[in-house]
Amino acid sequence: MSLSNLKYADPGFSASVIGWQKQHGRHSLPWQQTRDAYRVWLSEIMLQQTQVTAVIPYYQRFLESFPGVQDLAAASSEQVMAHWSGLGYYTRARNLHKCAQQVVALYDGRFPSDPALLKELPGIGRSTAAAIAAFAYGTRAAILDGNVKRVFARAFGVDGYPGSKPVEDDLWLRAEALLPEQGIESYTQGLMDLGATLCTRSSPACERCPLQQSCVAYATGRTAELPVRKPKKQQREKQAVMLVMLHDGQVLLEQRPDSGIWGGLLSLPELDGMRDMDDEPGVLADAFPEVTRLAQQFGDVASIEALPPFAHVFTHFKLNVTPIQFNLARRHAQVAEATHVWYPTQQIDKAPLPAPVKKLLQSLLAASLWS
Ligand code: ADE
Ligand code: SF4
Repeated sequence: MSLSNLKYADPGFSASVIGWQKQHGRHSLPWQQTRDAYRVWLSEIMLQQTQVTAVIPYYQRFLESFPGVQDLAAASSEQVMAHWSGLGYYTRARNLHKCAQQVVALYDGRFPSDPALLKELPGIGRSTAAAIAAFAYGTRAAILDGNVKRVFARAFGVDGYPGSKPVEDDLWLRAEALLPEQGIESYTQGLMDLGATLCTRSSPACERCPLQQSCVAYATGRTAELPVRKPKKQQREKQAVMLVMLHDGQVLLEQRPDSGIWGGLLSLPELDGMRDMDDEPGVLADAFPEVTRLAQQFGDVASIEALPPFAHVFTHFKLNVTPIQFNLARRHAQVAEATHVWYPTQQIDKAPLPAPVKKLLQSLLAASLWS
């Protein structure tokens, strides 16, 4: 063990897992009846993305047709795919076939016992390599699949998304520091069984869990919050308040900046541009006084009307627009800067406007809402 993970050592942890596995864990799964590395490998690949109950019949049919790694290596791709058909994630089947061929070619049909060598074979990642080495050869190596990440995150109160690099690195350090000196098979199977049967994603059975006394999530009531879920991509929704400013049969339009959405087009003036919904969810409720102040820069406001909001969907986000109509009694002379233009409403069809803005203005015109 290195100095960096010495602090994570905790012999009581593996003792609890092993004790529980022996009494309450699973013991009669077909691949637990063997130390044959070929069978262990086959089961671990099948179990990567598929439930135990779905795997069992496939595992048995595979072994009937391909009893040894040489048989699988010599089979045609069609035969292998036909046996895999229905298990899903077919890259696994192609890698399985390639892996069998490499084990025959490189290792004379004997799977290595060193996880570092196993990891170099097709379809075998770091955790699967450790599981194969532990179950087939008793090699002391750490696993860390999705279930084990969940158990560790809860038991030790590890914050942060376990799929992120720093959190995953931390979990690997813990996984290695927690390995028992003896009984790697029971320990490895016990971690898998705990994650699959007790420490489940929703409503874990903490009352029956051997880790309960020391579990951070249990003690702090955070089992529903841990492990931390994948952060959502932000900026899925934006909002904008648009001013429909009317005077004397004309509507005020604004030149948009060349870059950004609707670059270079004319559009309705907006209150502070577009905002991220998540940052300022309350912005629409507060908009009226602010938007009225903005409108007053352009003239004397005679009446205000909130128009029905609408949404426009872009490739990367949805824009929710709240249009507010202002009828001006008098227009201030000097505000018509280069970026603003009073545009005749009757010619709105010809204006270089974004489609949803043009649609809004056309529908207002058609409904004769404009005086
Ligand atoms: N999931 C992955 N490996 C497993 C195993 N050996 N037993 C049960 N479930 C598993
Ligand atoms: Fe998981 Fe509950 Fe056990 Fe903690 S006590 S490891 S949350 S099952």
